Amino acid sequence: MAEELISHIDTRENKPAARIGIVVCECGDKIAGVLATDLLRERSASLPGVVYTMSEPYPCNVDGRSRLSQAIIDHKLERVLIAGCAPRLVEHLFQQIMEETGLAGCYLSVVDIREQCAYVHASDPAAAMEKATNLIKMGVARLTEIDPPQTFSSDVVKSAMVIGSDLSGLTVALALADGDIDVSLVERDSQLGGTMYMLQDGAKELITESVDVVSKHPQIQTMLNTRVTDVTGQSGNYQVLLARDDQNFELNVGAIILATGVRPKSLDPNYWYDRSLVVSQIQFAHELEKTTAANGQLALHDVVMIFHTEDTEGGGSSHLSCVAGIRQAIQAKQLNPDINVTILFRDLYLGEAGGSGENLLLQAKDLGVNFFRYRKKHPPFIGGKYIKVDDPLTDQPLQIPCDRVVLTTPLIPQDNTSALAAMLHLPQDKKGFIIDRRTRLRPGNYVDDGIFVVGGVHYPTDTAEALLQAHVTAARTHRFLGKDTLTTAGLRAEIDPALCTGCGNCPQVCPTSAITLEKRDGLLSLATVDLLRCIGCGNCLVVCPVKAISLPGYGDPAILAQISAALSSTGMEKEVEGIDKPVPKIVVFACEWGAYAAADIAGARRMSYPADVRIIRMNCSARFDPNHALWAFLNGADGVLVGVCQKGECHYGNGNLYAEERVATLRKQLAERGFDPRRLRLESFATDDGFAFANTMKTFSNEMRK
Ligand code: FES
Repeated sequence: MAEELISHIDTRENKPAARIGIVVCECGDKIAGVLATDLLRERSASLPGVVYTMSEPYPCNVDGRSRLSQAIIDHKLERVLIAGCAPRLVEHLFQQIMEETGLAGCYLSVVDIREQCAYVHASDPAAAMEKATNLIKMGVARLTEIDPPQTFSSDVVKSAMVIGSDLSGLTVALALADGDIDVSLVERDSQLGGTMYMLQDGAKELITESVDVVSKHPQIQTMLNTRVTDVTGQSGNYQVLLARDDQNFELNVGAIILATGVRPKSLDPNYWYDRSLVVSQIQFAHELEKTTAANGQLALHDVVMIFHTEDTEGGGSSHLSCVAGIRQAIQAKQLNPDINVTILFRDLYLGEAGGSGENLLLQAKDLGVNFFRYRKKHPPFIGGKYIKVDDPLTDQPLQIPCDRVVLTTPLIPQDNTSALAAMLHLPQDKKGFIIDRRTRLRPGNYVDDGIFVVGGVHYPTDTAEALLQAHVTAARTHRFLGKDTLTTAGLRAEIDPALCTGCGNCPQVCPTSAITLEKRDGLLSLATVDLLRCIGCGNCLVVCPVKAISLPGYGDPAILAQISAALSSTGMEKEVEGIDKPVPKIVVFACEWGAYAAADIAGARRMSYPADVRIIRMNCSARFDPNHALWAFLNGADGVLVGVCQKGECHYGNGNLYAEERVATLRKQLAERGFDPRRLRLESFATDDGFAFANTMKTFSNEMRK
């Protein structure tokens, strides 16, 4: 298989060597304190294609950046390699510098010699140096083999669409409209504002006020009872198909903001409670509101609130619903001081320490609200006019009278979230929330630059957080729409018509239906890619039997070159203590949102793992090709690990499931040919689980050693 792949690559025309410049970052003494950066620079100078090298204390600061731009111009550089910190922290910045000098951003390679070398191998500088030398060699090999990107530009439409009108949606819409952007506010219900404000402190007044201003704002077009049925186009120029009653219509907008929020999970009619006494938290909020408005007294004796009655593993138990429950208990006591209020809980989420949640808890206790923790195994039983629950301290059964039971169910995304996420290519977690990028992982950035996500659709947010997110999102959208033209030198699949046989494999695996087969005169069909729909996951490259598809930066030549470089000698092995002993060489194909991010975190937390691990960064594990593993084994790898996102968290759909299937098939084939299949492994990683990454590398390396 691997030989076949190589023969395809060998038929490609020889490209003239590109002029490569290398910047070795010292990062103060974070890198230079462990690695001899001048020596690294010297060694890099002899790599093929390298015409210029420099070392910089901080290439990312103003002086460093201007020296880099000058070097690109003076030395006519065509590719740039930065050996420094984690790519996701600085990649955008350096790509911007390159683009300012007229060089496409995809001709940048950032090699992580800080998190992956200086931080994790600080106690063994020789091994760290050897690895850093090798990583630079891999980066240069990749740059040498990068295909020129396809570029396409489009005019930016100066308008935005906000889908959903909870507090964050209304606030974004207003902030954009006040900034002179035309906004279409799409709401599937018959009124703006949703119902979640009932659980958010102070949100009702804000919602009422915002709805009023939004409805009168000349730059906001409100569309009620309207559903989004399809989205096509690209960043800066989307065509959104909408449906209202029996009518379909289309809008053209430059940016889309998803603000559909959350809702409490409905009460399960088959669950274990007597429905006549039970209300949801939102229904109780309405009851309290009515009583307050009528200046009345709550005509109840015994209110019992049960927090998170259902198994919350799959739902969103959050401080929002706990704090709202405690606030309702206080309100009930204030409306009728004689009322008995009891809160039964498994866990109390109160938000930040010393914050309003804790203050409300103290206030509730002062007013005489009773709190009892119940065990997951013995949830409260609602029967007749009482609730039975075991007191976990005494193990004695308690019988609590009740004439109103308020059930707090988990907060979950709205039921249209999955459909919208699919249209906008947004990843969801197991609970259905849109995956939030942590601070280190490009907060607020998604696959497509013109798509933004705000508020509860990430995770349940309280009033302050919803407002903060809304203003940040509005500022980002505003900046995005400030450009007149967007030129994308993007990660898009390209099909070579001379090689394509029209086999039909690629359309079947494309997660966005971007590939179609077209008839050619008297010839086989030809697969064609809709560049606007393609998200560059790389799945199609793997299933193409004739290797007719390329993807800038992730083509077979670039990946194979990195594998070869990773497993080649640096000439430094002798300098590393103990390296003459057989040391396993592990090649990791790491999805950048799962395994690669976890490796970053392992580095940032200084969690060491064997220095012979070489990580090849992939955009998604959908790009993992079994031939790459074979090529690694042929070149001397002891073990190959494919690091994927956790189930349901692939940012490109089901890339991790494809990778799993491909690894399983290859393991079987290897076993049939007498090759130990344990040398090939697939592991999934949460984005921030550095511990799991470091541990897996240690275990795998030990197994290979045996
Ligand atoms: Fe991680 Fe697809 S993005 S497996």
